[in-house]
Amino acid sequence: MGKKIYAQSNSDSEYVKSVYKMSDIISRRQRTPWFWPNFVYNYFGDGREHDRTLKVLHSFTNKVIHERSENISHIESDNDSDNGTKRRRAFLDMLLMTTDEDGNRMNNQEIQEEVDTFMFEGHDTTAASMNWAVHLLGAHPEAHSRVQQELQEVFGTSNRPANMEDVKKLKYLECVIKEALRLFPSVPFFARNIGEDCHINGFKVPKGANAIVLTYALHRDRRYFPEPEEFRPERFLPENAVGRPPYAYIPFSAGLRNCIGQRFALMEEKVILAAILRNFSVEACQKREDLRPLGELILRPEKGIIIKLEKGFYQTSSCSG
Ligand code: HEM
Repeated sequence: MGKKIYAQSNSDSEYVKSVYKMSDIISRRQRTPWFWPNFVYNYFGDGREHDRTLKVLHSFTNKVIHERSENISHIESDNDSDNGTKRRRAFLDMLLMTTDEDGNRMNNQEIQEEVDTFMFEGHDTTAASMNWAVHLLGAHPEAHSRVQQELQEVFGTSNRPANMEDVKKLKYLECVIKEALRLFPSVPFFARNIGEDCHINGFKVPKGANAIVLTYALHRDRRYFPEPEEFRPERFLPENAVGRPPYAYIPFSAGLRNCIGQRFALMEEKVILAAILRNFSVEACQKREDLRPLGELILRPEKGIIIKLEKGFYQTSSCSG
């Protein structure tokens, strides 16, 4: 969005705290159907806490949008430039400057809805997914070595930052990320309202019903992913994915409302995981059965991921120390 919130150095940030609080509040309400009616929720549940937290989130994004829109003329004149190469704009600036076919700009509320969705969908999903990937690599030495070998082929001994060309070459790392998202999809379920009567597996599903798609379960269909609990990044090599139906693997959902950030997410994860594994080897300090994934809004391990980092490339050692 072009705004720094120093979330890592300032984890006390009101905004950051409210994001987590809101996830908690929503997922609690999802699990307690008696709080679904607004009246009951407001009088007997967390309704007021929900509204207070939402206000913090909205007033933060509102402020950012206002500050930025006041500088719009400066943003517009800042257009091309920088040694003849096009300067990349912050996403918020693009929203502020976008017009429809009649030349109308989006109003502040429309912009705010987009900003809120992107802020929410765009950070915790990738963070959770990288967390799982780091654990899985730390628990699978062969895949770990193969990733580091690929990194060595692409970067050699240099410590330059990754660029787009490098990212494209990190094919095995991409398989690792995809396999981690298969086993632990950051968005473990999503819902749709059925638009017309249909039949699924011999059952009639009427128009108006709510359907929940459980990616976590779908990704464990042994017809398409034999021995589904096994972590095997090779499943995603092009030659091994031949014939797999496109809807057998949908960590980013599918259809019209699929994830708009999926390509960006893969790039971001590759850059960050490459930065970690170019410098460190990772060892998992937990067994898979200790992780206890919690399917809240985002799928995360109950007590976090504990790993051991060792400078340099992979050598076997032990976490017990
Ligand atoms: C590993 C990372 C990610 C995963 C697993 C993921 C997953 C998903 C899923 C499953 C949906 C559909 C939800 C539904 O159908 O109800 C979705 C929607 C969306 N995602 Fe992502 N996402 C990720 C990263 C990102 C990033 C990095 C961004 C933005 C930079 C982003 C922006 C969005 C937006 C704006 C939507 C709503 C699209 C719409 O409703 O039209 N996501 N994401």
